[in-house]
Amino acid sequence: MSKIKNIHALEILDSRGTPTVEVILTTDDDIRVNAKIPSGASTGQNEALELRDGDTSRYFGKGVLKAVANVNGPLFKLLKGKSIFDQQALDSLMIKEDGTEYKSNFGANAILGISLAIAKAAAVSKKLPLYKYLGEIQDKKATLLPCPMMNIINGGLHGDNMLDFQEFMIRPKGAKNFKESLRYGAEIFHTLKKILKDKKLSTSVGDEGGFAPNLSSDEESLALIVEAIQKAGYEPKKDITIALDPAASEFFDKEKNSYFEMKKKLANQDYKYRSVEDQIKHLENLTKKFPIDSIEDGLSENDWDGWAKLTKDLGKKIQLVGDDLFVTNTKFLKKGIEKHVANAILIKLNQIGTLTETIQAIDLAHQNGYRCVISHRSAETEDTFIADFAVATRAGQIKTGSLSRSERIAKYNRLLEIEEELKDKAEFFKDL
Ligand code: PGA
Ligand code: ZN
Repeated sequence: MSKIKNIHALEILDSRGTPTVEVILTTDDDIRVNAKIPSGASTGQNEALELRDGDTSRYFGKGVLKAVANVNGPLFKLLKGKSIFDQQALDSLMIKEDGTEYKSNFGANAILGISLAIAKAAAVSKKLPLYKYLGEIQDKKATLLPCPMMNIINGGLHGDNMLDFQEFMIRPKGAKNFKESLRYGAEIFHTLKKILKDKKLSTSVGDEGGFAPNLSSDEESLALIVEAIQKAGYEPKKDITIALDPAASEFFDKEKNSYFEMKKKLANQDYKYRSVEDQIKHLENLTKKFPIDSIEDGLSENDWDGWAKLTKDLGKKIQLVGDDLFVTNTKFLKKGIEKHVANAILIKLNQIGTLTETIQAIDLAHQNGYRCVISHRSAETEDTFIADFAVATRAGQIKTGSLSRSERIAKYNRLLEIEEELKDKAEFFKDL
């Protein structure tokens, strides 16, 4: 029983209104599940391939009909009749059949859709909530609710403003449980909205639901966040800390080995360069001035020497998260471990393309004392897989956007449901 009867994909839209893949999987005992795949904007250069059609007569070339056809044709043929409980074996089979390092034959969007649908079907078949099933296959107690990193100011490629840094997030580390952490976040979000309004700044939101006011400096943005934390009745540092994702790969010039003012450059204004040393100093100064205790991609994926220096200088004091740098890939994480680079990894399922490989990256991280942050993408869908996955992996941290936009809130609401269901078994991440 519970063998794959049918796998069918279709082209749907993500939260940016761009096509993405949905996979519907049915079994011989009438289980029916679906999985919907997110998509990034500031993608790492070593991510698994997101297969797009390139046919400019549809969706400006961004259609995913080729990926859909790969699911409905060769991948379905490969997996038909197989047991949904063999997650690892089925993921390996797809990887092998694809035969390329970056899944460029079938597309990671096609393969991941099936991989996640298999896990969801297995959970239904076992009559387990998804987080419990995902915990079971890793031999982990799926009871640890993650501390959310809520992205309340959006810049970089996610916000139509002059901020070079992509994400300004708040972490309610002083909350006693997930429910309270979300309340802290929402109250600060609304307080920030009022502050922006009073200053006649825009309160429209960016891709991940954070505000994207036309501020001109990162410091201005951080000062506003601190003001919002205090006005909402919380104590910066004790109750709430700040996490940054500059997404610095986007504003690194490899030839010049320097960082540049990206938004000024994009707006055809005069722009300046900053050396690697100065960029590290800049980050360090920000951590001295503001209650920042986590920085993701503070340097570029092409600046490994800079990363090693950054880790030496700041790695004992704060969390340094590799996103573009590691792309959820054990190959790059291993390099990071060897070179003493970063102390945490961002985990995005679609950077690598199967559930099994994602779990391998998490295991490798945990075995080497690296923390894990489970993450959404800037274009999401209503699929809440990562909420269950965050609890099941005992990652302890999740970043899934701000306190607006339903594709972000859906994940938070799912975590509320899980916490409610776990009752007094629910734990909340403390060690930040
Ligand atoms: P992306 O951004 O989903 O657009 O790649 C998210 C991130 O950089 O963390
Ligand atoms: Zn990032």
